[in-house]
Amino acid sequence: MKITLIAGSNRKDATSTKLLHYIRSLMQTEGIGVTLIDLYETPLPFYSADETSSHPHVKHLLEAVSQADGLVLATPEYHGSISGVLKNALDYVSGSIVGGKPVLSVSSAGGAVGVSSLTQLQAIVRNLHGINSPEWISIGSSQRFFDEDGAPLDEPTRVRVTQALNQFIRLTTALKASAV
Ligand SMILES: Cc1cc2nc3c(=O)[nH]c(=O)nc-3n(C[C@H](O)[C@H](O)[C@H](O)COP(=O)(O)O)c2cc1C
Repeated sequence: MKITLIAGSNRKDATSTKLLHYIRSLMQTEGIGVTLIDLYETPLPFYSADETSSHPHVKHLLEAVSQADGLVLATPEYHGSISGVLKNALDYVSGSIVGGKPVLSVSSAGGAVGVSSLTQLQAIVRNLHGINSPEWISIGSSQRFFDEDGAPLDEPTRVRVTQALNQFIRLTTALKASAV
């Protein structure tokens, strides 16, 4: 199984990206192949429908999404929505490479929860004909602290992340098996 994770923050020490790194480590422990695209480290030019971009970061993004059996998308909660850099990345992506694939959406918010961005992210996934995983993951406020190994300090948060991730892995496994 191959999973592509997209970190949708434009900030060096982003907590949404730290959460994605933690999710990646859990999947690697399960022997799952993962590719993580950090939009801070590999920024994309602004999408334009007028031209096909030959930028290497765009090429890498599209290949990683195409080859994946499932996706994990992470966003900071910005003004009740997703980040501009994640929306820009998703504008490059079409239903032809996302359609039928499970997608787990995760967010980090300054407030208690960041479900407004998650609701909007799931709407974008729906419009890309992806399959939204039944659970999403929101961390907010003091749940955004991580230990030196990269795990959330808050134990209930670690439990929630594991449960949502297991559900996503089960869904991806079932869909991959049924496609063969
Ligand atoms: C432009 C901007 C808008 C924000 N809007 C919200 C918001 O609507 N709700 C909220 O709870 N936090 C909001 N925040 C706080 C961020 O969600 C919070 O700092 C979050 O942890 C950022 O994620 P990151 O650590 O991955 O960058 C906002 C922060 C910025 C910079």
